[in-house]
Amino acid sequence: MNKWDTEEAIRRWDMHAENFTAKYTEEGDRSREVLLNPALQACMGPLGGKKVLDAGCGEGYLSRKMVKAGASVEAVDYSIEMLRLAKERTSSALGITYHHGNLEKLEMFGDQSFDLIVSNMVIQDLAQYEQAIAEMQRLLVPGGRFIFSILHPCFQTPQSGWVKDETGKKLYWKVDQYFNEGPLEQAIPYDQEEKFLYFHRTLGSYVQTIIEAGLLLEGMIEPKPSAEMLEKYPHFHEDLNVTHFLIFTTRRSG
Ligand SMILES: C[S@@+](CC[C@H](N)C(=O)[O-])C[C@H]1O[C@@H](n2cnc3c(N)ncnc32)[C@H](O)[C@@H]1O
Repeated sequence: MNKWDTEEAIRRWDMHAENFTAKYTEEGDRSREVLLNPALQACMGPLGGKKVLDAGCGEGYLSRKMVKAGASVEAVDYSIEMLRLAKERTSSALGITYHHGNLEKLEMFGDQSFDLIVSNMVIQDLAQYEQAIAEMQRLLVPGGRFIFSILHPCFQTPQSGWVKDETGKKLYWKVDQYFNEGPLEQAIPYDQEEKFLYFHRTLGSYVQTIIEAGLLLEGMIEPKPSAEMLEKYPHFHEDLNVTHFLIFTTRRSG
């Protein structure tokens, strides 16, 4: 068995779905509320009347937000446990359909099914990310957009992290082994034993993959906390020194 594959990443998501999302609010976790959601919303623009796919929906907070903003949403995830939570937490009145599927091959959807596909913090989990990005291109109508956020590949590298002084004060963020592409494990704060599995690729690899899939790269956004969010959650000041996330906005040509 290959330990480092998508099936293994999903096994770990199944195991940790409940704990990972235990503190989620309707805005997701704190990083989503402060950094990812405002940036994603700005990229998505008005959603009224749009047919949207939430690709790797997890427990579904973003699907629910998008429906409330006027979209018609279908959602897909490969973790049975995440889907169980999503269904539990979603009122049927919202009309979201949750599907079980691997983003690397979404046979349940026909070509050109969606105006917009959003994938929040998922693409770095996929062993075959090139296949998944090509699949998103297939599913978009001409002119449709694929927007995805990932761990920032320039700062979340093998051996990256804060360097601290002897009192524990954070001094600076260290980056190392940037060109060492492949599987990586990320610590889970509440579990000393197990780690999440994801895959590191360079920024250049992501850009090249987007281009080879036939998508137009329209923007790259590095979310940072707004003044309003800094007032609400002052400890996010440290996120003005290093960015943890990157959002790509891409379009299928019309
Ligand atoms: C970090 S969570 C993000 C969930 C959700 N988008 C959010 O922001 O809360 C990553 C999600 O990607 C899903 N996932 C990982 N690999 C996948 C794959 N190959 N196909 C579909 N979903 C996948 C996991 O099951 C998990 O729900």
